[in-house]
Amino acid sequence: MDRIQITGGKQLNGIIPISGAKNAALPLLIASLLTDDRLTLKNVPNLADVNLLVRILRNHGVDLAVDGKRTGPIQHLGETFHLTARDVVDTTAPYEMVSRMRASFWVLGPLIARMGIAKVSLPGGCAIGTRPVDLHLMGLKALGAEIEIEGGYVIAKAPKGLRGAHIVFPKVSVGATHNVLLAAALARGETVIENAAREPEIGDVADCLVKMGARIDGIGTSVLRIQGRERLEGAVHTVLPDRIETGTFAFAVAATGGDVLLEGAKATHLKTALDVLVETGARVEETPRGIRVARTDGGIAPVSVETQPFPGFPTDLQAQLMALVTRAGGTSVIRETIFENRFMHVQELARLGADIHLHGDTATIKGVKTLTGAPVMATDLRASVSLVIAGLMAEGMTTINRVYHLDRGFEQLEQKLTRCGALVERIASG
Ligand code: UD1
Repeated sequence: MDRIQITGGKQLNGIIPISGAKNAALPLLIASLLTDDRLTLKNVPNLADVNLLVRILRNHGVDLAVDGKRTGPIQHLGETFHLTARDVVDTTAPYEMVSRMRASFWVLGPLIARMGIAKVSLPGGCAIGTRPVDLHLMGLKALGAEIEIEGGYVIAKAPKGLRGAHIVFPKVSVGATHNVLLAAALARGETVIENAAREPEIGDVADCLVKMGARIDGIGTSVLRIQGRERLEGAVHTVLPDRIETGTFAFAVAATGGDVLLEGAKATHLKTALDVLVETGARVEETPRGIRVARTDGGIAPVSVETQPFPGFPTDLQAQLMALVTRAGGTSVIRETIFENRFMHVQELARLGADIHLHGDTATIKGVKTLTGAPVMATDLRASVSLVIAGLMAEGMTTINRVYHLDRGFEQLEQKLTRCGALVERIASG
């Protein structure tokens, strides 16, 4: 397994191009199942999760052609995918594949909506909490799907097709909103989703569905009104920039000091996180080319933050923020309200000398003067990248093992950092 070696202490200066958002690319790829026409997606990031989903979609019969091969010294421009699901030949998504990536469970809605039948493995346990799928099933049942669980699989049937319904989610769920939104686009009549997730990636998928012929009101709000269509058409859509990648690099610059332009990033997608960054002492400037982040003086100020669904502070940036404030001049408090077990980075950060005390869903981080490099273990996607940030701040060398977690969600991470002056090297497994 590959490792990443970081020699800390270098500032970051330069330009980092922001890739297409993983969390939008995945549901957009899945949207290809809704039509027998071609769906063209531009700016698709080259990530392990995208490649895995492509394998799952191919299994269902989706045909993929890729063009727009990247150019230039840093291959960030994203690829253009042409997807055609003319014949859905298989409506089963097997355990071996779904268990490796939770978002692949979202094929369930589109498969029932288009084919009237689907058998999709339950996603199984996940390192960051129990992550049930009850809300997905509740929404799809409301649309008329008959659902049984058998042998670890969700077996869903809607022989007469899905019909619109009024769904009120008791809790905000990104995945359940995607699943129901995708299905509702092919359901008869109007579907209303109340308490829908408002993450920009949901808006991106809704925009694409509108191009495919669905009528959707309330995009960007917590009430989505979808007029389903009997048939959706093909479309051309560009994946929006990755706000989590943006936030990650922004926090890295605040951690190391320096001055970096995050090219193509949109400040409106991560306003709360940028406000927190400013509170820690960084300068943030919105420019026509992207977001510029700088920290030139020495200090990192402590903060008190709790994660919330969008537009709140994203859980996907919690670990990165924690890495940053390990060296704050004071005590920070971070409360995780979305996932109950998303603190695996804490003990790894402690290996570098961080002083973190965990109590239930709350971490109290006493800033230390220095972190010191050490071997650490990547545990999940966002936790892993927090270790990269900590490694960039630490004195000496940090080796991060099990970096396949990073490859799931960060495109060209080492290259992007190295071009800004970081000393980061990937050691391929022998
Ligand atoms: C998505 C994101 C992930 C992010 C998360 C929260 C993708 C591919 N993944 O994950 O990066 O961290 O949103 O912003 O976009 N829940 C239930 N029942 C359900 C579904 C969810 O109780 O049926 C709970 C979960 O356990 C969790 C909370 O709701 O506590 C939020 O989960 P959800 O928004 O669904 O996360 P994902 O869609 O899995």
